[in-house]
Order: sequence, then structure tokens, then C-alpha cells
Amino acid sequence: MATIKAAILGFGTVGQGIFHVLNEKREELRDKLGLELEVAKILVRDPSKERVPGTAHLLTDSIDDVLSVKGLQVVFEAIVNEEPSFTYLKKAVENKCHVITANKVMFAKRGLELQELAKQNGVFVGYEATTAGGVPVIKTMKNILLVNEVSSIQGILNGTTNFILTKMRSEGLSFDDALREAQALGYAEADPYNDISGQDAFKKLMILSSLAFGEQPNWADVEVIGIDCITSNQVADATEQGLRYRHVAEVEKHPDGTIYAKVAPMLVDKEHPLYPIDDVFNAVTMETNYIGTLTLIGPGAGMYPTASVMVEDYAEIIGKRAGFVVSI
Ligand SMILES: NC(=O)c1ccc[n+]([C@@H]2O[C@H](COP(=O)([O-])OP(=O)(O)OC[C@H]3O[C@@H](n4cnc5c(N)ncnc54)[C@H](OP(=O)(O)O)[C@@H]3O)[C@@H](O)[C@H]2O)c1
Repeated sequence: MATIKAAILGFGTVGQGIFHVLNEKREELRDKLGLELEVAKILVRDPSKERVPGTAHLLTDSIDDVLSVKGLQVVFEAIVNEEPSFTYLKKAVENKCHVITANKVMFAKRGLELQELAKQNGVFVGYEATTAGGVPVIKTMKNILLVNEVSSIQGILNGTTNFILTKMRSEGLSFDDALREAQALGYAEADPYNDISGQDAFKKLMILSSLAFGEQPNWADVEVIGIDCITSNQVADATEQGLRYRHVAEVEKHPDGTIYAKVAPMLVDKEHPLYPIDDVFNAVTMETNYIGTLTLIGPGAGMYPTASVMVEDYAEIIGKRAGFVVSI
């Protein structure tokens, strides 16, 4: 049986999750794809630190070391920031490797460029994990777009802010106390700026805009408002009126072709699809011409949900490459 050689760039929460899922699903993937998978290298900053027992011999801090693996075909990327991620994935694509990324910061800005480069090199880019973690919004939207047009998208794309707003409503906590609880539970980073300012949701929204409309609005024209301005009194007043605060990322294409996008707190009533989405859950609602309104709900982050959709991307890409449809 032929063996696919893969590398993992980044071996933190997501990178380790990919390694575990690939190991746990090794036999099923082999049976479904008719191919063995071998993780041949893992890129980190500090290779002297063994994160998972038995992987020390795979660790390197050199991308050249990774890309010189003979027969390397797939690169999973789970590092942070635009660079060096984009440069590494560009090199991988030019080396005719399929790439599967979780890196929304890089993909929001360079995703269209990376996909074009992949097309020129006859390889695929998987990016389901960049947006709404374990919610299969990318593959669902790709399928829908084969027949439908998507006119607008509204989403709760950040689980941390949704958790904070939920706690403020259900337990009457202040923003600061709810944030502290999110940090204690590991939902929020020590520096929560990207989440609470809306910047994290904004990046995911731009990825959805690229997919739905083939383009993004000018980033400078998009209003991005965080949730730190919301008080517990405002939340209590809203609850009394039967309304809930949601941190909503929305994008729509107007009939004149312009794209409008915004990330901001929004009051929704119980008829709204995002009203029941509590805690760390993510949800994406899209308006389509034939199906109508469709809402997907699920876990927006975490080691296993994120790694799982990346391995699904692998199965889909390798299935396509081998010319058959993978049924999972
Ligand atoms: N965590 C989630 O639930 C989640 C969900 C969806 C998407 N994502 C995205 O997935 C990516 C990874 O997230 P994470 O939570 O797994 O991060 P993480 O736990 O901080 O791990 C990052 C890993 O990348 C490595 N790394 C960072 N910069 C590097 C560089 N310049 N060269 C080589 N290696 C480098 C680090 O190496 P060292 O270990 O040596 O420091 C570490 O192993 C991010 O882009 C994130 O936005 C995360």
C-alpha cells in the first residue's frame, strides 16, 4: 500500500490535536483512502521540548528540513500570524504539496493568493479550520454555492465573546468578571484583545466573504466594535425586553456589487437564528436564493474539533486526488 508523507507546522493545541486524530483514525483512514499516512516531520520554534512522547525525532525548527522530506505530499499548518506561515505554505505549494491550514490571520489576508498559487501548482488548500473551528461552514458553503447564491452571512464567530455575553445574562456578571471566568476556564487568552475587540471574528468574516463573494470589502471600511463597552445593566434591560446581546459578524453583497461588512454587538429577539446560541458555541446563518435561510451551529474551537476538520480536509483532498469520493 502506498504511503502519503505529511508534515505538521506548529505543535501546540491544534498541531498536537492533528497528530492525535491521525493516530487514532489511522486504520479507518487507511481503509477509506487505500493509503497509509506517515507524519514525517513536525516544525516548532523549540525542538528541544518534546510535547508528545515518541515525537522528539520528528521535531525540527527548519522549514527547509521539512520541505526536503522525500515524497512529502501534505502539509498541515497550525502556527500563528501571517508570517512566516504564508511564506512556508507558499514554498510547500511550490513544492507541489497540498496544504491544510487553521491559521485565520494568515488566511484572511493571503488566502485568495495562496489558493491561486495552489491552482497553478495543481494542489489543493484546505481551510475549514480557519473559520468557526469544528463547524463545517466552508465545505457546506462551497456545496451550496454550486447551485445557490449567498446574499448575506451573519455569524457568532468567536466563542469567547459569546461565553462572556452568556454569563453576563444568565448570572448577571459584569464584563470584567465574565472575562475572568473565561480566562480561568481557558476559553480566553491572558491577552484577550483579539477576541473581545472583534478582530478575531473580523478575520473569519473576511474568509467567509472571500468564499461567498470571491472578494472582501476594503478592510479599512469595515466597522469592528468589541463587546467591552457592554454593561451588566444594559444586558439586564435587554433581557427584560426579551432581547439578547450577540456579538455578530455580518457581511452582505448589495445589488450594485458593493460588499458591506461589520462586526458589532447586536440585540436579537427570539425569532432570530442567533438568539439561542449560548456559551462557547459558534453559529453561521446564511441567506441563499433557493434554500432560504440556513444556520450551522457547533463548537468554534478546541484541540479536537479543530483537528478533526483538518483531517477531514485531508481525506477530502486525498480522495479528490485519487479520483474518488470519500464517504465518511
Ligand atoms: N486553539 C484553537 O482552538 C484554534 C481553533 C481554530 C484555529 N486556530 C488557529 O490555529 C493556529 C494554532 O493555534 P494553537 O492554539 O494550536 O496555537 P499554539 O498552541 O500557540 O501553538 C502554536 C505552535 O506553533 C509553533 N510556532 C509558532 N510560531 C512559529 C514559527 N515562527 N516557526 C515554527 N513554529 C512556530 C509553536 O512552536 P513552539 O511550541 O516551539 O513555541 C507552537 O508549537 C493559530 O493560527 C490559531 O489561530 C486555533
